[in-house]
Amino acid sequence: MTDRLFIFDTTLRDGEQSPGASMTKDEKLRIARQLERLKVDVIEAGFAASSNGDFEAVRAIAHAIKGATVCSLARANDRDISRAADALMGGESTRIHIFLATSDLHMEKKLRMTREQVFEQARLSVRFARNLTSDIEFSPEDGYRSDPEFLYRVLETVIAEGATTINIPDTVGYAVPELYGEFLLDLRQRIPNSDKAVWSVHCHNDLGMAVANSLAGVKIGGARQIECTINGLGERAGNCSLEEVVMAVKTRKDYFGLEVGVDATQIVPASRLVSQTTGFVVQPNKAVVGANAFAHASGIHQDGVLKARDTYEIMRAEDVGWSTNRIVLGKLSGRNAFKQRLKELGIEMQSEADINAAFARFKELADRKSDIFDEDILALVMDEAVLAEHEHYRFISLAQHSETGARPQASVAFAAGEVEHRATSEGNGPVDASLKAIESKVASGAEMLLYSVNAITSGSTESQGEVTVRLQHGGRVVNGVGADPDIVVASAKAYLAALNKLHSKTERVAAQG
Ligand code: KIV
Ligand code: ZN
Repeated sequence: MTDRLFIFDTTLRDGEQSPGASMTKDEKLRIARQLERLKVDVIEAGFAASSNGDFEAVRAIAHAIKGATVCSLARANDRDISRAADALMGGESTRIHIFLATSDLHMEKKLRMTREQVFEQARLSVRFARNLTSDIEFSPEDGYRSDPEFLYRVLETVIAEGATTINIPDTVGYAVPELYGEFLLDLRQRIPNSDKAVWSVHCHNDLGMAVANSLAGVKIGGARQIECTINGLGERAGNCSLEEVVMAVKTRKDYFGLEVGVDATQIVPASRLVSQTTGFVVQPNKAVVGANAFAHASGIHQDGVLKARDTYEIMRAEDVGWSTNRIVLGKLSGRNAFKQRLKELGIEMQSEADINAAFARFKELADRKSDIFDEDILALVMDEAVLAEHEHYRFISLAQHSETGARPQASVAFAAGEVEHRATSEGNGPVDASLKAIESKVASGAEMLLYSVNAITSGSTESQGEVTVRLQHGGRVVNGVGADPDIVVASAKAYLAALNKLHSKTERVAAQG
């Protein structure tokens, strides 16, 4: 019988810690539903004690999700653990994930605690959590750079207190595959009660080895849970990519001999949803989910693939969900067809009024663009005008003029709360002029860190443009995403979306602060 490898997705927690990737409760819920369709084993929905917003998001996800365990992160103290338990209460299957740093560097410089204090805190926190749940994961933060002798003591004790999963984070992405695998194996061999817990890997990608390290942790170290994120989203260089580890284990079953429960046909839709929600664009040559991952440009390769696919293809595009990229609706589609497609895509609108608003926008789009793809529908429902009547800034209209030899001009109408503004400005180009016009009224003073345009669907110029704008202000970094067949309009929408995020001042505690 083959062994089972558990997939623990932390897109909504560790992925969200990426600067600018923070998500609203509704956005998190939509991604959680896609993760449910993807059939991951565990969804880390957030860090309940970090903010009221995250508490509510964890609670909503715990109530909505069936068939996957919903998890909340918690620092190793009673308050955080109680908050996590409260947020998870009523969920079908739930887990509390406690973390505490164990490397000398972190204990000394960050926590300012002695080894004995950390040991006691770890022990008491798991003991406390054991009164609230039977599914407890413990992570010694910066575990890979911790003294193994100290880890033997801490981990043996937390298992004895009731931890059921032991996760070994390579928090700073310092590991190399063979050494990380051996590190895990040594821990499992030296800790007498190690067989009472599932061992897990959690690798960051600072040296580009998160996937390789995770797989070595499984193959050499005997781990049976991988922590990962969609598109490898995460702080700095990100986390281990879900799509890459899952497809590695599935494609090389001959080598790993492991079973994963993930429905791979949901990988590309999940990748798209996360990218459209966070504004973190997927690079074209990214394994499995990049636009070029299955494109054969060279004549020799094309010829080979036409004669026999497996000459140059080790996976089939449709097996990871690329076939969902098809025309789904058009100008003549009715409200019921639209509503049905929303349902199939896992999009739940709050009310009939929201559906009507989205349908009206769909009709507008179908008048301007003959073929509507799933990606267009996702972009449309993510658009401020439909989703967020409650948002402070809302796009109304835009006019711009650009002509060779003349300085471009734009005039933008938008609402700020109840007040409508119209502002005009010049700029280096029509996009620059539009954003300057908005800024002339809003006066946010935010610094722009990133501006990028992407075609939502195929490379054709008929595609909608999706613009991401990343702003920084007062120590906060936010991303705004806007989509429209007109990229100047998409840019204005993205800018307003980013301003809305700056406007909602949600304070949160950093998980690795
Ligand atoms: O990278 C890390 O150490 C973490 C822990 C909180 C598990 O994300
Ligand atoms: Zn992490």
